[in-house]
Amino acid sequence: MKKKNLPAVYQKLIRIARQARKNAYAPYSRFKVGAAVLTEGGKIYSGCNVENASYGLTNCAERTAIFRAVADGQKKIKAIAIVLEAPDFGAPCGACRQVIYEFGSSAEVIMATVAGKFKIKKISELLPDAFGPENL
Ligand code: THU
Repeated sequence: MKKKNLPAVYQKLIRIARQARKNAYAPYSRFKVGAAVLTEGGKIYSGCNVENASYGLTNCAERTAIFRAVADGQKKIKAIAIVLEAPDFGAPCGACRQVIYEFGSSAEVIMATVAGKFKIKKISELLPDAFGPENL
């Protein structure tokens, strides 16, 4: 699909994620990532990766964006865009897939590069047979 054929709101999500990437705190990996979530209510929250000298405490851009939404009372995710700089798309890590699923079991994940490539998959494709709130 060409970018111009994307729904306008997804184009906007990519734009906001790309902008959020600029705030990434990634002095260790130097790999900057931006994300933006669209909630059921139509609100958008952005996030970036936040690394730590301990390395293990790194928070990915996706979780930063989702936690901002949840902290603002928005617990239903329709879509999330992720923007990074790489020859190919970047897919969310396993931990982030689990967190996306928690708040949006049918969310669409828009994986984009700063150069403008993108692809879209459902979280259920990225995390098949997921364990979620419905299993408790
Ligand atoms: N990272 C993200 O923020 N999101 C992803 O989808 C992949 C990885 C971050 C974590 C770390 O700060 C850096 O990218 C390198 O792994």
